[in-house]
Amino acid sequence: MHQPDRVSLREVAPRDGLQNEPPVPTADKIRLIDALSRTGLSRIEAVSFVSPKAVPQMADAAEVWAAVEKHSGIRYSALAPNARGVQRALDAGFTAVELVVSASETHNRANIGRSVAESLAELPDICALARENLASVEVIIATSFGCPFEGDIAPAKVARIVEAAEAAGAGRVAFGDTTGMGTPRRVTDLLDAVQGGVGTELPMLMHFHDTRGTALANLLTALDRGVVEFDASVGGIGGCPFAPGASGNVATEEVVHMLHDMGVETGVDLDALIRTAELAQEIVGRPLESGVLRAGPRSMKHASRISTQDESGAGNLKPR
Ligand code: COA
Ligand code: ZN
Repeated sequence: MHQPDRVSLREVAPRDGLQNEPPVPTADKIRLIDALSRTGLSRIEAVSFVSPKAVPQMADAAEVWAAVEKHSGIRYSALAPNARGVQRALDAGFTAVELVVSASETHNRANIGRSVAESLAELPDICALARENLASVEVIIATSFGCPFEGDIAPAKVARIVEAAEAAGAGRVAFGDTTGMGTPRRVTDLLDAVQGGVGTELPMLMHFHDTRGTALANLLTALDRGVVEFDASVGGIGGCPFAPGASGNVATEEVVHMLHDMGVETGVDLDALIRTAELAQEIVGRPLESGVLRAGPRSMKHASRISTQDESGAGNLKPR
């Protein structure tokens, strides 16, 4: 298996995670982002500038961003669904924005009220707006691996959106598995269509949800194909309010835990990240599903209940 020395993780819990929970206080969002900023992560998607009617959870985006600690080594970004959102992000001081377009007609309409063609027609002007203001712009292609309304999405369709994004002036592209319909086979098919077919030069990032338990397998498949950028969400929170059945992103601590043991560096302090997952759990007020949060890292040793000095003879069962 091909394995890079290092991968770049973008933390998305403050946006993808909190957009899918009952609204939490502004102060808690700030606490979460500040804690994430101290874990060694180099990229954090902090907020989205979307309609407060569509996503009330993100209504205080500008307030949150104004109050968080900004660390010089971290690239913070904001998601925006339209030109208005990009303008709000720029006004707030962001220098990196993510636009979203879905590969599925039905999901694009449910999510941002447009046909895919309408979204693609808007892209050049929105990319120009960001670039004129010296902001980098990424296009996230939602439902890249399947749509909860339409089912399978042809990889060629995703590849055409990549082409349109590149032509519009986007600097990067991300593939979103919005409702965890990806499997290693789907990741391979998509990368065949994009890397082989379109032959894009854009940096690529994968955004996996673990709805059906395939996120880490998908990530390894993408890694083997040379992808080195991934989204993940601390505590595994996340989901799209406009996609039925959407549930959490792959948990950042699960990704970091696995990659570090493989010898792939992330720059992240796993202990600090697990403490931040505990904070995320406290903020959302329900037990989170992340295995590494629940069980601790594999290096954690438990006290054995079997005595090594047991006179009954069971003492030869020494804990290792
Ligand atoms: N920020 C804040 N408000 C916005 C906005 C933005 N970026 N874009 C539009 N609005 C407001 C308008 O002021 C208008 O408000 P009003 O009803 O009080 O007058 C309302 O939203 C509709 O405006 P309109 O221009 O018709 O919006 P639109 O149809 O072009 O776009 C979206 C609708 C995209 C703004 C809305 O569907 C949305 O915010 N979707 C985001 C979905 C999301 O976050 N999904 C999860 C992440 S992928
Ligand atoms: Zn997502």
